Amino acid sequence: MTVRIAASILAADFSALGEAVATAEQGGADLIHIDVMDGHFVPNITIGPPVVRAIKRVTSLPLDVHLMIADPARYLTTFAEAGADFLSVHVEATPHLHKTLTEIKELGLKAGVALNPSTPASVLNEIATEVDFVLVMSVNPGFGGQKFIPRTLTKIDTIQGILENAKNAASIEVDGGLNQSNVRDVVAAGADMLVAGSAIFGSPDPSQAIETLRMAGNSERPPTGRK
Ligand code: DX5
Ligand code: ZN
Repeated sequence: MTVRIAASILAADFSALGEAVATAEQGGADLIHIDVMDGHFVPNITIGPPVVRAIKRVTSLPLDVHLMIADPARYLTTFAEAGADFLSVHVEATPHLHKTLTEIKELGLKAGVALNPSTPASVLNEIATEVDFVLVMSVNPGFGGQKFIPRTLTKIDTIQGILENAKNAASIEVDGGLNQSNVRDVVAAGADMLVAGSAIFGSPDPSQAIETLRMAGNSERPPTGRK
């Protein structure tokens, strides 16, 4: 089991999105991470289903769609039909989380729960057996290019413990402010899916950046039975 790199296209040039996705794919990214924001749950507005559909047409990589929207349960079918393979909803925006995760899985997608930096890991206690992955925000959601919040490391470790207690080999995805200097710590704490936007698309050599993140991550990867 090695770490997976999810290239976040939020940091790409939107006027040349197809090229950015191709660059990430050719550079060895494992997933394309797509940040959907609605201007309500987070203070930014980004991408919706038509763009997800367009990206699906130009890549064979799985689409990792991160819903930062109010009441995401309304849009599960829409994003499934648009081509999402992994779909995460924020616990802070989802009152009926068990139901929502069940629906995502019934649509045939990997179901993820995303946690804001101020949300305690303990919100997962009653749902830990149900998740395919947990998305740990290491910045406040809304914008790319922010600074990694160090406290996230303790939280990743706690989440790993909760998943182990639940006997669930779910993945732990970390999102926000990742770069070659902090991915070792993030992976050592228990992460195995690494989202990177600026570190990849802000680099003059995105392929090299992906490889650097992967090498750094894998150098710290403890053997586990993760999915
Ligand atoms: C932030 C998004 C992230 C963002 C990460 O709300 O969820 O996926 O694109 O970007 P970087 O890697 O630049 O912090
Ligand atoms: Zn994201």
